[in-house]
Amino acid sequence: MYLETTKEIYKEAALNPNIGLCCTTTPIWQLPGLNIPKKMLEMNYGCGSTVHPRDLANNPRILYVGVGGGMELLQFAYFSRYKHAVTGVDAVEEMLDASRENFAKAETLNPWFDGGFIDLLKGDALNLPIDDNSVDLAAQNCLFNIFKQEDLTKALKEVYRVLKPNGKLVMSDPICEQEMPDKLRENEKLRALCLSGAIPLNDYVHLLTDIGFGTIEIRARRPYRILPSTKYNIKENIYIESVEVAAIKDPMPSDGPCLFTGRTAIYFGTQEYYDDGNGHVLLHNQPMAICDKTANDIENLNRDDIHLSPSTYFYDGGGCC
Ligand SMILES: C[S@@+](CC[C@H](N)C(=O)[O-])C[C@H]1O[C@@H](n2cnc3c(N)ncnc32)[C@H](O)[C@@H]1O
Repeated sequence: MYLETTKEIYKEAALNPNIGLCCTTTPIWQLPGLNIPKKMLEMNYGCGSTVHPRDLANNPRILYVGVGGGMELLQFAYFSRYKHAVTGVDAVEEMLDASRENFAKAETLNPWFDGGFIDLLKGDALNLPIDDNSVDLAAQNCLFNIFKQEDLTKALKEVYRVLKPNGKLVMSDPICEQEMPDKLRENEKLRALCLSGAIPLNDYVHLLTDIGFGTIEIRARRPYRILPSTKYNIKENIYIESVEVAAIKDPMPSDGPCLFTGRTAIYFGTQEYYDDGNGHVLLHNQPMAICDKTANDIENLNRDDIHLSPSTYFYDGGGCC
């Protein structure tokens, strides 16, 4: 069964670190006074980053699912710096042991770091050993894309359950807009290596909003991999991207979720500002980040004095739904 194959693959990756196993070339956060142990870097089995300093105000209680070598937990701890700030959950004992060793090494390299900042728990993403409504910020990097839809829904529901109201899930995962051939989808090894479980971005967003996350932010979208047709004996090359997405446990607005994809509106008419009567005041010639729902509403007004910029898929906050 693919969940067991996945655990076997990451057991092996814990015992024998495999550089490039599934990581991308996204730059790694190198921060002043942060020394990431070499083995931890070699065990970077994620794509993109889930660590955004902006999410870390007010000492959030952080849950990290699928620990890997522990690099992102160390990066979270870099900002948080208090006991029990971060809880890491992983289903693979050997991975927990490897990350424990990496944190011990990190203690010797980073005078500010105390291993007590991080608690590690054995547990499954599909059945988190965490209390309801107890977490401010949850993160997962390159684990959930491995799950088939039913399990992915289960994993997302688990995170939703443990998040406090208005808590946030930050994720980084591959996505794919093309139809993934069944023989690749069903290949347990490719799936475990984050290569064939990828789904289109819209489907990914819908799974989140169906569970009840009222606000979604697409924070980054980057090229990830090609699966060459010649290598896999398939009709065409498959292009995979990676995304960083935040899903916030806000109440669902009555007119549907707020999805931020990096769109903005700029009012450039003859008045000082434009007020849409729906909570959006556009100051003259100043871009305002808006969600896609609001962008569509403004588009439907057919005004010739408001410019709507397209989705950049690099949303970095400041928006108004
Ligand atoms: C692709 S690695 C990503 C590791 C880490 N997030 C990173 O960015 O380097 C997937 C991680 O999830 C763990 N894992 C696999 N199946 C799991 C499950 N069902 N529940 C929780 N963790 C699981 C693996 O042991 C591994 O640490």
